Amino acid sequence: MQQRTLGPFQVSAIGLGCMNLSHAYGTPPSREAAEALLLNALDSGVTLFDTAALYGFGLNETLVGEVLASHRSKFTLASKGGLHGNAEGKRVLDGRPESLKASCEQSLKRLRTDVIDLFYLHRWDKRVPIEDSVGAMSELVREGKVQTIGLSEVSAATLRKAHAVHPITALQTEYSLWTRNPEIAVLEACRELGTTFVAFSPLGRGFLCGELRDLATLGAHDLRRGMPRFQPDNYAANLKLLDGLNTIADEQRCTPSQVALAWLLAKAEHIIPIPGTRSIAHLQDDLGAVNVALDAATMQQLDALINRHTVTGPRYDAAAQAGVDTEEF
Ligand SMILES: NC(=O)c1ccc[n+]([C@@H]2O[C@H](COP(=O)([O-])OP(=O)(O)OC[C@H]3O[C@@H](n4cnc5c(N)ncnc54)[C@H](OP(=O)(O)O)[C@@H]3O)[C@@H](O)[C@H]2O)c1
Repeated sequence: MQQRTLGPFQVSAIGLGCMNLSHAYGTPPSREAAEALLLNALDSGVTLFDTAALYGFGLNETLVGEVLASHRSKFTLASKGGLHGNAEGKRVLDGRPESLKASCEQSLKRLRTDVIDLFYLHRWDKRVPIEDSVGAMSELVREGKVQTIGLSEVSAATLRKAHAVHPITALQTEYSLWTRNPEIAVLEACRELGTTFVAFSPLGRGFLCGELRDLATLGAHDLRRGMPRFQPDNYAANLKLLDGLNTIADEQRCTPSQVALAWLLAKAEHIIPIPGTRSIAHLQDDLGAVNVALDAATMQQLDALINRHTVTGPRYDAAAQAGVDTEEF
């Protein structure tokens, strides 16, 4: 497995997003299947595992802790605080210093570890100055509970403010062929600051894999049901882009998922994609992207095929959009 640099860590060029094992898209796998997937990833050379207090309202961290704690020295563990579930089943955003510290303590327990390698602020709580949230996270570093700090879905300006308080090891934001917002400013800001850019939803939440053709197959609680690009009219327009993607995949003798991930890997050395999957076959397919080298002409073809002008619909609805701080086209 190829390696990339994440602050003080060398990690697999493709990490594993663990969210899908507990919530988000479709029915989560059984406990046994989830365990098998995590162990298969580890055996296959994946050394970056990404979870969050929010995922499954703690269940995802518990799963990762139960399955991987006995292998703790073999991988870099990333989790996130500042966004969690409450007893009423609602998401709660809370970036106050004392809340972040309490959240970290709970994550450490669920993850069955003494230290989280990379602790992200899941969303900037705009009621709290970013300097205060990051200040609390830097105290967690000093206390030895966290090794490094990350942010998620923030603008270049917020990244710079935070970085002035404590070095920001990683910025995690949605980035893929069909979501290009990081190209406005944060990719460059990360490069300048030595911050690794972790690309979440790198497969366009499954769209770029080419298998999701019929929205009626989405389960009742699938998050994509509420996302603008997955609404019937928009999705019908977006599906037309897949023919071109399939053609390029055929030319490269690989799958569309591999093209999507290889495109991210080829964009810059400081990018690490973290695809999510419930399936070992899909995981193996995704990891195969490290062996796909796209030349400049193919990168240009992809950039021209799927971009902000050819994709229909915004990535988030108004409520989700209000919760992020990213630059938008
Ligand atoms: N920081 C944040 O706010 C944030 C937000 C969202 C996600 N994330 C992180 O990013 C990770 C990945 O993002 P994501 O799960 O939203 O989106 P993604 O990785 O772009 O797409 C996941 C979807 O693609 C499907 N898939 C994966 N590999 C496939 C393959 N080879 N062939 C066919 N289908 C495939 C999966 O279905 P199957 O399960 O059927 O394979 C799943 O429905 C998450 O797990 C989470 O850790 C972070």
